Amino acid sequence: MVDIIPEKMEALRLHRPGGPEALALEMVGTPRPGRGDVLVRVHAAAITRDELSWPVDRLPAIPSYELSGVAVAAGPEVRGSVVGQEVFGLTGFDRDGVAAGFAAVPARILAPKPAMMGHVEAAAIPLAGLTAWQALFVHGRLEQGQRVLIIGAAGGVGHLAVQLSRWRGAHVTGTTSRDAADLVRAAGADRVLDRTQVLESAVEPVDLVLDTVGGDALAGSAALVRPGGRVVSVAEEPPEAFGAAPLEASYFVVEPNREQLEELAGLADRGALRPAIDSVFALAEGRAAFERSLAPGKRGKVVLRVAEDPEVEGGADD
Ligand SMILES: NC(=O)c1ccc[n+]([C@@H]2O[C@H](COP(=O)([O-])OP(=O)(O)OC[C@H]3O[C@@H](n4cnc5c(N)ncnc54)[C@H](OP(=O)(O)O)[C@@H]3O)[C@@H](O)[C@H]2O)c1
Repeated sequence: MVDIIPEKMEALRLHRPGGPEALALEMVGTPRPGRGDVLVRVHAAAITRDELSWPVDRLPAIPSYELSGVAVAAGPEVRGSVVGQEVFGLTGFDRDGVAAGFAAVPARILAPKPAMMGHVEAAAIPLAGLTAWQALFVHGRLEQGQRVLIIGAAGGVGHLAVQLSRWRGAHVTGTTSRDAADLVRAAGADRVLDRTQVLESAVEPVDLVLDTVGGDALAGSAALVRPGGRVVSVAEEPPEAFGAAPLEASYFVVEPNREQLEELAGLADRGALRPAIDSVFALAEGRAAFERSLAPGKRGKVVLRVAEDPEVEGGADD
């Protein structure tokens, strides 16, 4: 636990639109928790491919929108005794992220960290896990016994979507590069297809396609869905030509949701959901971490380890 909250903290900041070269590690003022906010001492923060292109009108910006840490202070109107708790969550995309020593986060979007996991693994769940949950069960309405095809099944979103689909009792097919087939199989896929394969002849029509890749893979997915089925993409808007096909096609942006996060934490604690960690970097290695997030061959999530405090760290990865 932190007794005294410092005036200044280390933070990664993006100074102009671009790639990892536009990031710098700096000392900035520690945020104060506003109404309804909790100040979290960040222990780990995970990052997502392409996220440096998201904050265009509020630069300089702190990246990373998912964290695991310890609540160290509460702002006005925060109910309950959250201070001292280990928490994790997805934060909003409209304010600074969490690649920093501390972050002020609305209490209503945080949940208790999975007890069986350390901070590094816990931080790897919120963004990809909530994206997969909302894609499959909210937008995709996936039910037990249905068939789902996950495009990009070895990615951050994809490998958790495989595990969640399996837990729901769906028949799961995943596409991936050949070298990641084992990861997708281990996540619980019934079938794993090479991404270069012609899918139309290989896949029995599915009830739902979850696309995490976009481009040609998304464009070709209409042919793989049964009449009346659904395509949900998190990579980009489906092409207009989809409008003529007898299916529902949608794109959405993930939203923080505490109830869904609690479901994910419960699954993690029961061993039904386990994030793959591609690599772990120190905050000072932020540029290298973001370069890795864009690299081909990455498997699972890239995580920044921000704090190491043996008194509060728990779980295997810490
Ligand atoms: N809309 C939202 O709310 C939302 C939320 C989360 C993420 N996203 C976006 O969704 C995308 C995926 O995110 P992520 O975190 O899962 O990224 P990721 O971890 O980089 O995973 C993408 C995966 O797709 C694979 N891939 C690339 N082209 C493929 C193809 N043609 N067929 C099959 N697999 C292919 C990649 O494997 P290789 O290594 O083989 O290339 C990689 O495993 C990103 O663009 C991200 O920004 C959107």
